[in-house]
Amino acid sequence: MAKELGFGILGAGMIAPFHAKSIQASRGGRLVAFCDTTKERVEKMAGEYGVRAYLSLDEMLKDPEIHVVNICLPNHLHHAAVIRCAAAGRHALTEKPPAMTLRETDDMIAACAKAKVKFGCTVQCRVRAAIRAVREAVLEGRFGKLLHADAYMKWHRTTEYYHSEAWRSTRKSGAGVTVQHAFHYIDLLQHLMGPARRVQARMSNLAHPSVRLEDTLLAFVDFQNGAQGVVQASTALWPGTDIRIEVNGMDGTAIVVGEKMTTWKFRDERPEDEAIRRLGDASQATAASGPTALGFADHSVVIQDLIDAIHADREVIIPVASVRPTLEMVLAMYQSAAKNAPVDLPVQDDESIWEM
Ligand SMILES: NC(=O)c1ccc[n+]([C@@H]2O[C@H](COP(=O)([O-])OP(=O)(O)OC[C@H]3O[C@@H](n4cnc5c(N)ncnc54)[C@H](O)[C@@H]3O)[C@@H](O)[C@H]2O)c1
Repeated sequence: MAKELGFGILGAGMIAPFHAKSIQASRGGRLVAFCDTTKERVEKMAGEYGVRAYLSLDEMLKDPEIHVVNICLPNHLHHAAVIRCAAAGRHALTEKPPAMTLRETDDMIAACAKAKVKFGCTVQCRVRAAIRAVREAVLEGRFGKLLHADAYMKWHRTTEYYHSEAWRSTRKSGAGVTVQHAFHYIDLLQHLMGPARRVQARMSNLAHPSVRLEDTLLAFVDFQNGAQGVVQASTALWPGTDIRIEVNGMDGTAIVVGEKMTTWKFRDERPEDEAIRRLGDASQATAASGPTALGFADHSVVIQDLIDAIHADREVIIPVASVRPTLEMVLAMYQSAAKNAPVDLPVQDDESIWEM
């Protein structure tokens, strides 16, 4: 039997239990420890799961039972943590966005490659059955010429949410609806359509006046494959409704709402289409109304895949390199909104975005 892999979760905050439950539900993974600089928080969470508590990453990396570190820190801290994990020969799974800049992302990818450790990212919406079906149809050319791909995220977050942790309302820490919440759905567009060549964005704050960030994004995207698209994303819209991803080609249309396939129509109707129309669970919560209104099934798939990838010594299901073009689209959107003009990719000077 393959060796059991020990996991340490870095950051014992809101998303950590989703990782912890996924590890506990996995085949071949064992939760060994949490690490957080806030003592009461890490001791409480470690107590709940019956595992060790560490107050620093360096301390946790000395633990020989830890083979994988799940990076569940605020966005601006992912880069330094991954570099340290790689230097200590540990596999890393980072929360999204993988880092704040393209240079940081490239750094982390290079460090993990050099250390020969796996490096994945939890843009977990990619693993939903309905999204996988859309991607397969895109790759197979079933849509014909691709014309449109759109993401709509009409969510709600309270003002208290933004003030619940300092980083959630701080631009430099990677806060704002575009990089923090819409990242998943911009990633789905990128995953389905490939990289963008130009974006034009407008950002505004509609309902959170005490927060100096955009809570609403409107963007046009031109993809390299010739299709165009729209991203509409907000945390201002009460009570929050499920996300919607739409793909249209000359020969077909697919619409996914939350995780459910609601439209699947092709000129060449096939026998398997009826089953594809039933993919996804209409009742599964997908974080529209609050940050914890979310199941852990998608995280579970990503974590199980990482365990299997380590044993098989193959690439993980969502390598960070595949998320880099998403980060680049997001960075281009911030530049475009600041300039009030379209921005062509590749982006230049992305470090300065976080000083805006
Ligand atoms: N994949 C998803 O669906 C999803 C959903 C929510 C959040 N996230 C991501 O998860 C990450 C964490 O978000 P969150 O909402 O859990 O944040 P959080 O603020 O609730 O938790 C972060 C924790 O990190 C701790 N921390 C800060 N600096 C540290 C350090 N140097 N060493 C150890 N611990 C430290 C904090 O004390 C806090 O407990 C972010 O990157 C966010 O974008 C992903």
